[in-house]
Amino acid sequence: MKNIKDHENLNQKKVLLRLDLNVPLKNGIITDQTRINKIIPIIEFLLKKDSKIIVISHIGRPKGKVDKKLSLKPICESLEKKIKRKIKIINQDIFKLKKGDLFKDPQDQIVFLENIRFYEEEEKNDLNFSKHLAGLADLFVNDAFSCSHRAHASICKITEFLPSFAGLQLETEINALKKVTTEIKKPVTCIIGGSKISTKIGVIKNLIPKFDNIIIVGGMANNILLHKGKQIGKSIKEENCEMIINEIFKTSNKYSCIITYPEDVLVGKNINDKSQIKEIDDITDNDLILDIGPKTINKIKVIIENSKTVLWNGPAGYFENPNFANGSYEIAKTIIKKNKDKSIFSVAGGGDTVALINQVNAIEDFNFVSTAGGAFLEYLEGKELPGIKALN
Ligand code: 3PG
Repeated sequence: MKNIKDHENLNQKKVLLRLDLNVPLKNGIITDQTRINKIIPIIEFLLKKDSKIIVISHIGRPKGKVDKKLSLKPICESLEKKIKRKIKIINQDIFKLKKGDLFKDPQDQIVFLENIRFYEEEEKNDLNFSKHLAGLADLFVNDAFSCSHRAHASICKITEFLPSFAGLQLETEINALKKVTTEIKKPVTCIIGGSKISTKIGVIKNLIPKFDNIIIVGGMANNILLHKGKQIGKSIKEENCEMIINEIFKTSNKYSCIITYPEDVLVGKNINDKSQIKEIDDITDNDLILDIGPKTINKIKVIIENSKTVLWNGPAGYFENPNFANGSYEIAKTIIKKNKDKSIFSVAGGGDTVALINQVNAIEDFNFVSTAGGAFLEYLEGKELPGIKALN
């Protein structure tokens, strides 16, 4: 994989820079800046080389339609303040855009294309779309490790039409995860939570042979509870997961990996509600499961206490409402304490997990924090990520 830092002459070169600026937003306000902070090194590097930068990113899942709530504008404004430079955001239809339309003003050094997922061609890894994007620049840089598990146009197909390079952050993330996976000490515990059930549920089966414990919390735990014949009320769930969950339990028996899931939970009637502790058998039709309960927390604490490595991806509950943040905080606190004793090696990954760890000001208390969520899990699976394969 060629790295952009080894490129000999970037002066005035138009660089199509794929970043992951998929930051958490609440009413248009960015609630965690980590992913923006992490891309500053590549931006400053390219600015210093006098390149012209065309930033591409997605935010959210607009599914090929323009959704004003998912504009990159707030991110663009935040970056402008951080690097003290003007950045133009291009709203024009990409298909109508030509290379000569960009950087007409010689002062312009960075432009943002609007959310790339406003185009359905992006997720289809569409050839013509990729070719057109490529026509805007001289070279391509992928500095979005956290998107590299997606076979999308601005990550994969684009590399067929431009000289393509790895970015600085992408290389740092891969090197750190390589080290984690080769030097891993047993017993290993993997905690998987969050709300992106469809992204994660398929990964678990392949992780089982590598780990001693898998703790399932967050949205995915609801599917496990349903599978065990429990009621989950109005809680989020993924459809058609029966087969995969059967396989998860069968594989866990074969490899003696213990799967832990909630024994009790915190529920509310809506996401802004107060919390109420409930035993699993007491969930009613109106309940929304939004966090793990105290018994489950204690069980998880014991597992972490007895682990030498812990990998954590996805919060245990809807931590955006403080009434449902306790499960995630308690997990974080237990890992941090063991990390301070140097009795555990800890890695956390994913946009929401990083936001949560930032809330407790503990980024430095983990051995490594990856910006990647789904990509982090697929890397742990041992898969070659499509975006990395394309660069190779
Ligand atoms: C992430 O947040 O993990 C990346 O931005 C990828 O987002 P996605 O799961 O919507 O593809």
